[in-house]
Amino acid sequence: MKSGKFLTLGIETSCDETAASVVADGRFVMSNVISSQIDIHTRYGGVVPEIASRKHLERMNDVLDRALGDAGVKAQDIDLIGVTYGPGLVGALLIGVAAAKAMAYACDIPLIGVNHMHGHIAANYLEHHDLEPPFMALIVSGGHTEIVNVPGYNRCEKLGGTRDDAAGEAFDKVARVIGLGYPGGPKIDKAAKEGDPEAIAFKRVYLEPGSLDFSFSGLKTQALNYLNSEKQAGREIDVNDVAASFQEAVVEVIADKAVDAAVRHGRKRIVMAGGVASNSRLRYLMETKAGAKGIEVLKPSPVLCTDNGAMIASAAYYGYKAGGRTGLDLDAVPGLEF
Ligand code: KG4
Ligand code: ZN
Repeated sequence: MKSGKFLTLGIETSCDETAASVVADGRFVMSNVISSQIDIHTRYGGVVPEIASRKHLERMNDVLDRALGDAGVKAQDIDLIGVTYGPGLVGALLIGVAAAKAMAYACDIPLIGVNHMHGHIAANYLEHHDLEPPFMALIVSGGHTEIVNVPGYNRCEKLGGTRDDAAGEAFDKVARVIGLGYPGGPKIDKAAKEGDPEAIAFKRVYLEPGSLDFSFSGLKTQALNYLNSEKQAGREIDVNDVAASFQEAVVEVIADKAVDAAVRHGRKRIVMAGGVASNSRLRYLMETKAGAKGIEVLKPSPVLCTDNGAMIASAAYYGYKAGGRTGLDLDAVPGLEF
């Protein structure tokens, strides 16, 4: 604790954001630099892994310098380095892991490899400074849709997940089909505000009774079938109505299952995480449905919902406090499980 506070540098490169952040005592964000590649990948309609790795390589050093500079600290002031080592794109992960290892070695700083999903959950510690486990977590992002029981800081028990597409993936695919472009989530969220969620009866997929799993791949087919039948009938398509109806079919199921999980496990709090946690309709439905059962819903602000280094720093801090350490032989694990 060279500065009186315990400073963790968090590094995140699992997908298309090159991000680094300095967090004090696992809770207080001192800097949060996120260099997004969205403009580049938009041209291709989705993330191109090879391009993502190359851009991470180009930007990593600058992002690290800015994260330290914005926090007003030097590399020697850092007490711990946390880096995402999975799940994610292997080439992208490797850039962050290599940068973290080089800095840890050069400056003799302890290193911790962080599971990206644990990072998303930890984003809530940065926003809600009094939050402590136990709680239920709902992680909804471009790659994941998971309901996770969190009994302690470093304990995560997955209760359910998607059997095919992740929620964000479904948003991105349907947005492409209806011509809203990439990334689809925020665009559908915006368009849906002008549309009628009951205009089109998209089927809600709950799977077997009591299941906390999800399935969203059929929604893209439903949307395509609807567009084709309207086209054949010579009717104009109201994109806002399609967006609102599709969004409702996704977020209603997510909210129902998350609240069900909390009730069944006696949890009084649900924390939301991941890019789709920014969805305004999901936030509203979660609050209404959980509120009716006396359950509190917490969520990070949008900048902490999507991928960032601060959430990785927070998760690393709690891992370190529990005695976790990672050697310089740390490798990327693209398919890392909970
Ligand atoms: O957590 P994230 O930044 O990256 C990972 O997947 O790890 O999440 C990105 C995903 C994208 O699929 C994006 O379309 C979705 O989150 N997203 C949203 C919203 N904002 C971002 N989906 C629905 N509504 C939003 N407002
Ligand atoms: Zn993520």
